[in-house]
Amino acid sequence: MKASLKKSKTDDIDVSTWLYGRRLPSPVMSASGTSGHGAELAGYFDLSAIGAVVVKSLSHFVHEGNPAPRVGVLPTGMINSVGLPGPGVRRWIDEYLPDLTRTGANVVVSVWGRTKADYVKAVEQLAPVSSQLMAVEINVSCPNTEKGGEMFGHDSKETAAIVKAVSQTCDLPIGVKLSPNTDRYVEVAGAALDAGAVALIASNTYLGQAHKRDSNQPMLGTSSGGGVSGQGILPLSLRIVRELNKAFPGCDIVGVGGVHSARDALAYLFEGASAVQVGTATFVDPRILYRISEDVKWLVKKQGAQSLKELLAKKSMPPSF
Ligand code: SIN
Repeated sequence: MKASLKKSKTDDIDVSTWLYGRRLPSPVMSASGTSGHGAELAGYFDLSAIGAVVVKSLSHFVHEGNPAPRVGVLPTGMINSVGLPGPGVRRWIDEYLPDLTRTGANVVVSVWGRTKADYVKAVEQLAPVSSQLMAVEINVSCPNTEKGGEMFGHDSKETAAIVKAVSQTCDLPIGVKLSPNTDRYVEVAGAALDAGAVALIASNTYLGQAHKRDSNQPMLGTSSGGGVSGQGILPLSLRIVRELNKAFPGCDIVGVGGVHSARDALAYLFEGASAVQVGTATFVDPRILYRISEDVKWLVKKQGAQSLKELLAKKSMPPSF
């Protein structure tokens, strides 16, 4: 009731943005890995009303993932070591994509692999359905693989080699999900852009460790720790977006990390992001993507602007924000 009241009042507000060469109805997207492999959130809101659905990273093989417990709650968000379980691209195409396509959502497929050849195989398998996809997000930054903190995303040459191989294999625009766990993220991002990526996704989770409250035992099944996400990381990822925007002005950047409200989303947009992804907050409220998207409209209107573009042109948050 409340959501539809707000919606009717902001029908005339344009919060569209451009990403991957497409006009998205909203700058709010889902973050890979936080709402399943398909249309899982479709029961909560119209998926075509948000910017895009980014599905959990897929590989060309079926993967079981890590032992439970895979997620733990922290005072500032959560920690996970899910380990990239998934049905593999072929089964995903048969079992998940049809429902997702029917929703009318923009679909971004995240892919991962253990080798460069794995990434290439995954995008080769996507070729028959590429017209149903908006883009490929290359995940080179999962902290929860067998190699732990040693990820492709910490090495600019390895990242560039993967991006280049993927861009030679598929026609879809490519985004790269960067790791925040290196001080060389600007260098890695530059290498990815030179190799053919058109968007920087900043960023994945932060390497961390957490213990159970009642014992000094690791919280997660993989006792080596996992990736920290949620409200506590917003200032960290916001700074990364700022640095990337300074280094690559005009480049499409997607801010990810700790977005729980329209104000959080606008903070990323004012720092130069074209869109934001929302992940951990979805576990608290499965409607949050829609709510944030509607609240962005509301805030635009409150500031006397007609569009997000007009508000962002003011260059800084109005004092009454
Ligand atoms: C996981 O499945 O472990 C999380 C994926 C990621 O952080 O990239």
